[in-house]
Amino acid sequence: MEKNFLSTAVIFSFLIVRASGFCGVHQTLDVVILYDVSSSMKSTSIAYQVSFIHNLAGNIYLHSDHTNIAGIGVGNTAHYGWGLRDYLTTDDLMARMQNITATSEGSDISPGMDMAWNNIFSNNTRSGSTRWVLVFTDTKVMSSTTSLDAIKAAGIKVGFISTLSATDYTSYASDSRYILGGISWATLDSDLPTVISMICPPYCESFDFYYELPNSMAVIADTNSNVGYYLISESKGPSAYNIHCCGALSSLEFKAATSGSFVLQVWRAEYLIYQTTITATGGYQTHVFSPKVAIAMSDIIGWYSAGVNPIGMATSCVGDLCPQDIKIVTDMGSLSVGDFYDWSSASTMPDTAFAIKFTIVNGTVPTFSGGSSPISISESLTVGSSVTVVSLTDDFGDQFMFSDLGNPYFEINQTTGLISLMTSLPVTGVETPYFLTMSVIDSCFNTASIAINITTFVQPLAINNLPTEVEIGDDVSFETLLIVINATDPAADSISCILSSILPNTTNFRLDDYLNGTAGMFLNAGAALDFKTVEEYKISITCTGMSSTESFMTVRILDKSVTTPYTVPAWAAGAIVVSVGSVGVVLAMVCFLIVVILATTDEAEVMPPMEEDENDKTPLDDVAQMCKIIDRWESEQEGVGEI
Ligand SMILES: *[C@@H]1O[C@H](CO)[C@@H](O)[C@H](O)[C@H]1NC(C)=O
Ligand SMILES: *[C@@H]1O[C@H](CO)[C@@H](O)[C@H](O)[C@H]1NC(C)=O
Ligand SMILES: *[C@@H]1O[C@H](CO)[C@@H](O)[C@H](O)[C@H]1NC(C)=O
Ligand SMILES: *[C@@H]1O[C@H](CO)[C@@H](O)[C@H](O)[C@H]1NC(C)=O
Ligand SMILES: *[C@@H]1O[C@H](CO)[C@@H](O)[C@H](O)[C@H]1NC(C)=O
Ligand SMILES: *[C@@H]1O[C@H](CO)[C@@H](O)[C@H](O)[C@H]1NC(C)=O
Ligand SMILES: *[C@@H]1O[C@H](CO)[C@@H](O)[C@H](O)[C@H]1NC(C)=O
Ligand SMILES: *[C@@H]1O[C@H](CO)[C@@H](O)[C@H](O)[C@H]1NC(C)=O
Repeated sequence: MEKNFLSTAVIFSFLIVRASGFCGVHQTLDVVILYDVSSSMKSTSIAYQVSFIHNLAGNIYLHSDHTNIAGIGVGNTAHYGWGLRDYLTTDDLMARMQNITATSEGSDISPGMDMAWNNIFSNNTRSGSTRWVLVFTDTKVMSSTTSLDAIKAAGIKVGFISTLSATDYTSYASDSRYILGGISWATLDSDLPTVISMICPPYCESFDFYYELPNSMAVIADTNSNVGYYLISESKGPSAYNIHCCGALSSLEFKAATSGSFVLQVWRAEYLIYQTTITATGGYQTHVFSPKVAIAMSDIIGWYSAGVNPIGMATSCVGDLCPQDIKIVTDMGSLSVGDFYDWSSASTMPDTAFAIKFTIVNGTVPTFSGGSSPISISESLTVGSSVTVVSLTDDFGDQFMFSDLGNPYFEINQTTGLISLMTSLPVTGVETPYFLTMSVIDSCFNTASIAINITTFVQPLAINNLPTEVEIGDDVSFETLLIVINATDPAADSISCILSSILPNTTNFRLDDYLNGTAGMFLNAGAALDFKTVEEYKISITCTGMSSTESFMTVRILDKSVTTPYTVPAWAAGAIVVSVGSVGVVLAMVCFLIVVILATTDEAEVMPPMEEDENDKTPLDDVAQMCKIIDRWESEQEGVGEI
């Protein structure tokens, strides 16, 4: 039972940090604590250290087969406190620590390291144990690092808890995660969870949960059927089944007293999150989970057996780890993943242990997929455009957080993994690389990262409304605007266009300035068009900005001496239907109809949809161009019904 230890200034309380409580079960941790007894320590500070060590011991299962703690007082010499096997209970430890007082010595950590290495670790640790030196100190003085170096070289983990800055210990500690700097002695107890998580990290790494090893356990057969068991963590004291870490369930060992089958279940509180049927043939068996099952901290393992439960049991177990709180229901019935079950009203089974052991290992590392490098995008890409999508696969797929992409131009949707352009890229006119990096941490502290390389290409000059076709009656001889060239070149400040050739050669057309610096293709005043001589002209236009492009327009000449009724071809109807609803489109339709109604020949009927490689143009663009022609023509030839 807990004794009442009082010290001059501190009333010791026994803090139990449930989240990671009793992580030392089956852990064979050998921890050597160096506590500070230099003259710089006030008696209260000594008392705070003692309280902390007591609480730490209370949260790590101290037992000769499990976790052991040794203590050394350190001023500028070392004072042997107790060894790894001397004080196996927290109470004994507390009694021993009543004798700790400050010395009149200066401060030097190295004698303490020497004693830890030469007198404790040298012949006192158990094979396979995880060994630690935890140093409580307010100094960074270490006159020699010989023992420290030997300790670290032997794979012993070294951590520091200090009033000084953490950076003072980066070269001493075996890992920067094992330094807790800037503490105050008076509030040391509040750092207990941090120190516990140093030696018992929140990820399982490789952790076994069992009362006794199943293969050597003496068992009797269960008689219950349609029975469910729920291996809840003990409400007090060390617990064999306290899942204090997250990871992935990799294997289950059990000893069956009878043959049969059972459904192994994983519960998150009272919700069933996983189950699988396991056949027991009798005797000791191992079931390997493939794939492994993601386990969060505080999940609970259980099982359901429709027939007689085959897993062997011991009904009068003894010792600290003998379960008192395992829950049982004898009318459970089979359940589905996602179901809720009210375990709070289930009865418990004191002094009953099962021959079951489960192993939880580190979860799988998340892996990125997609976003394959390198990715090529236009440097003129519109803001908001998607660039690529990355996705992740992981046991704990629910809690991804992508870090910043490390780049001001791109952003990632944390949910979908879609990377898009957030800000316009600078237009450089040359290929430019961009590097994105992403990292992710899942809910079991597994991390992964990915680098994505993006290269921009320079958007070439484009003549957006060519090639195209314009129709005009062969009786037109006044100046007529046929089309305004729409050329774009994001990399160029200005663009100039020339008429490079006309087939057959003629002086009927010219490329000339139109409004606001645009170029228009005109039919010249006094033009002589004749359907019988030339049915169409192919006019090539070359525009030059940073780059240069040539395209063409076809001017089809209509025979005005013949008129035939016009029927709307199917492709045109389709084009109109697609666009109903916009004012601009309605106008375009009207113009379009004027053009087609005025069309006079069979050829005119067959105004083809844009077959020439015009992937990004809709037939309506061309309709709109015809509008320009008509608009101009209408303004000049009011009421004239023919081109
Ligand atoms: C505490 O110190 C006294 C005097 O040195 C000693 O007699 C006693 O055994 C010590 N107590 C423990 C628990 O070690
Ligand atoms: C090793 O342990 C023995 C007792 O088992 C002890 O006498 C000896 O002093 C220890 N060695 C060192 C270096 O402390
Ligand atoms: C991305 O670019 C960096 C730097 O040029 C290069 O080291 C890396 O190999 C590239 N990665 C891929 C996947 O292309
Ligand atoms: C991310 O994508 C989802 C699904 O498309 C969307 O609902 C959400 O608004 C997006 N988040 C942001 C920040 O854009
Ligand atoms: C287990 O996972 C943690 C968190 O990702 C990591 O720090 C640790 O190195 C892993 N251990 C092993 C043995 O993979
Ligand atoms: C020129 O073409 C581009 C691309 O098709 C278009 O976005 C722009 O609106 C056009 N400009 C005019 C004046 O029609
Ligand atoms: C086209 O005609 C013009 C004027 O008659 C002439 O200057 C030009 O050289 C001709 N082009 C070709 C390719 O024949
Ligand atoms: C030309 O520019 C003027 C003034 O900037 C503007 O009012 C006019 O609408 C523009 N015309 C065209 C066809 O873009």
